[in-house]
Amino acid sequence: MASAARNGAAAAALMVAVAVLALAGGGSAQLQHGFYKGKCNGTDVEAVVQSIVRARFARENPIVAYLLRMQFHECVINGCDAGLLIDGTGTEKTAPPNLSVKGYDVIADIKAELERRCPGVVSCSDIQILATRDAVALAGGAAYAVRTGRRDRRRSQASDVKLPAPEYTAQQTTAYYGRLGLSAFDTVLLLGAHTVGATRCSVIKSRLYGYGGRPGATDPGMDPAYASIYKKYVCPNMPSSDNNVVFLDDQWSALKVDNHYYKNIQLRRGVLPCDQNLYNDGSTRWIVDLLANNDGLFTSAFPQALIKLSEVGVLTGMQGEIRKVCNRFN
Ligand code: HEM
Repeated sequence: MASAARNGAAAAALMVAVAVLALAGGGSAQLQHGFYKGKCNGTDVEAVVQSIVRARFARENPIVAYLLRMQFHECVINGCDAGLLIDGTGTEKTAPPNLSVKGYDVIADIKAELERRCPGVVSCSDIQILATRDAVALAGGAAYAVRTGRRDRRRSQASDVKLPAPEYTAQQTTAYYGRLGLSAFDTVLLLGAHTVGATRCSVIKSRLYGYGGRPGATDPGMDPAYASIYKKYVCPNMPSSDNNVVFLDDQWSALKVDNHYYKNIQLRRGVLPCDQNLYNDGSTRWIVDLLANNDGLFTSAFPQALIKLSEVGVLTGMQGEIRKVCNRFN
C-alpha cells in the first residue's frame, strides 16, 4: 500500500516536472522580467532606454506613433526578431508597406549607447519593445512591465512581409491576428494604436472620390460632415494633395494614447476602412462600444495586447544573435 502511494506520488512529481520543463522550453517561456538586471556593467538597461525615448519624445511627440507602428510591422512578420531593422537589398525594410515606417534612428541611438556600456548584451528586438513601451506611457498611456530576453534573427526577407490591407473587413482583420494567437478582443485593442499618428490623402482618396470603383462616389459609411471637410480642406481632388497629412484620430487627439479612436469610429469618422469596419461588423462592434465607453478599460487593456504582440515568435536562449548594430547582421 505504502509503496503504491509512494509510486503514485513519484509519478505525480514526474508529471509536474515534465510540465514545468515543457513550459520552460516553449517559445516565449524564457523571456523574463528584468532579464538584463546585473548583466550590463552596473547600467540599468531599461533606464537608459527610457531616458533616450523621453528625450526624443520631448523633441518629437510623433515618435510614439512611429514606434507603435514599428512594433506591429516587426512582430507580425516572423515574430519580434528585429528583422525589420536590417538594411540592404530585398530586406523586410524594403517591402512596400514598410517604406513609410519611421523611428529606426531612435532604436540605433539606444543601441549605440547600450553597446558603449555593455557590448553584445542587449538585443535590438528587446530595444524595440522597451522603447515602444516607454513612448506609450509618455503619450498618456499606462506604464507597463514587459518581459525581455529576445534575440535577433539572422533573416530579413521582403518576400516574408505579408501585412493586412487597409481595406480589410473586421473578419479578415481578426483572422489575420487570430493566426498569431491573438483574440478578437486583442485585435480591436491593437488597432486602438491608431489613436496616434497619421496617414496620407492617397490612402483614403478612394473612399472620398471613387468608392466601390465608381468615379466621384464617396463612401456612404463615412460621416458626411467629415467627408466634406476632408474633400474641401484636407484632401482636395487633385494629385498635389496626395501627400497631405490625415490624422488617424482627430487632430487634437492624434498624439494622445486614449480611447477617442473608438468614439470616432462609433461616429463613422474612422479614417482607414479597416478601422471603420470594426464598428460596422456586428462581431466586433460590441468591443468598440465597450472600449469607447470606458477609457480606463482601454488604458489598462491596451498594454496587455501590446505585450501579447511583443511575445509572438520570439527567439530566446542561444537562438539567433545579439547584433552589434541593429541594421546589420553580425
Ligand atoms: C488591420 C491592421 C492594420 C492595418 C491595415 C493598418 C494600416 C495602416 C496604414 C495604411 C497606416 C498609414 C501608413 C502611411 O500612410 O504611411 C497606418 C498607420 C499607423 N498604424 Fe496601422 N494598421 C493596422 C494595425 C496596426 C497596429 C496593430 C498597430 C500597432 C499596434 C498600428 C499602428 C499604426 C500607427 C501608430 C500608425 C501611424 C504611423 C505614423 O504616424 O507614422 N497599426 N496603419
